[in-house]
Amino acid sequence: IRKIGVFTSGGDSPGMNAAIRSVVRTCAYLKVECIGIYRGYQGMIEGDFKPMGARSVNNIINKGGTILKSARCQEFRTKEGRQKAYDNLIAAGIDAFVVIGGDGSFTGAMIFNQEFDFPVIGIPGTIDNDIFGTTFTLGFDTALNTVVEAIDKIRDTASSHNRLFFVEVMGRDVGHIALNAGVGAGAEEILIPEENLGRERLLESLKRSKESGKSSSIVIVAEGDKTGKNIFELKDYVEDNFPDYDVRVSVLGHMQRGGSPSCYDRVLASRMGVKAVESLLEGKTNLMVGIQDNEIILTPINKAIKGHTKIDKELIRVSDIMSI
Ligand code: F6P
Repeated sequence: IRKIGVFTSGGDSPGMNAAIRSVVRTCAYLKVECIGIYRGYQGMIEGDFKPMGARSVNNIINKGGTILKSARCQEFRTKEGRQKAYDNLIAAGIDAFVVIGGDGSFTGAMIFNQEFDFPVIGIPGTIDNDIFGTTFTLGFDTALNTVVEAIDKIRDTASSHNRLFFVEVMGRDVGHIALNAGVGAGAEEILIPEENLGRERLLESLKRSKESGKSSSIVIVAEGDKTGKNIFELKDYVEDNFPDYDVRVSVLGHMQRGGSPSCYDRVLASRMGVKAVESLLEGKTNLMVGIQDNEIILTPINKAIKGHTKIDKELIRVSDIMSI
């Protein structure tokens, strides 16, 4: 392998730049060429490539977002799209690629690898932490800190007005952000898609906490939670059935994906980038780099995609105890 492509794909996450930097510099260190592919699979289909040397990634370790840009690409889901991408890679002399992204990005890489026998290695970059084969995905730790900081601010105004706040956090299908940030920010209740206990139980719990002397409360709702039709409907339900509380909703949204990565995410990205390039040069393919027990490991991409991440039951218990 003499030329490695690197790109970011799907929803961006803090730490992606640190991972790009690591891939580029490891290539320079091991004397293989590195090519940046812009806008993920879209840029691959359009041949949007740029050679990257060690100095091209100066001053990005601390930056959120991704200097290579990102996209969710429909065309890559078609055989014709993938053929165009392959032709462009071959024309540019690219032998292998490192994809930094989530579930959808890995599925694309796996199909591409099967169709063209093209070497690929994945680095998990998503704030959702919903990838099997790694305890942490890049951006999760930073997003948690961002969410906790935001909820701390909401707590100030909630307690000043004796209000109940429903705060929606990201997590399309999973509740990892909600559960961890909920415990970290001291939420009263945490609603996650993995554990739907129903609206009535929520109401009872809120009543109990009011009776126990709490004057304000924060309920964290994961984006993918199905306790209500949506967070606004849930607010209406609680207000209708529990008029004692003045209720407000705050949807944190895309600010959770931005910002300077935490030290943890920067270190993780640096370690994962080195492992990704070294693995390709050792002839490995169709694998994802992950971290388990503080060791950098490899998992087959198909397992990373298909395996389900488990919600931490112990953390649910801790949250229940803390909200007495
Ligand atoms: O997968 C990361 C994520 O931030 C999810 O939590 C969220 O549901 C989704 O991306 C939003 O995607 P988009 O930025 O395309 O609206």
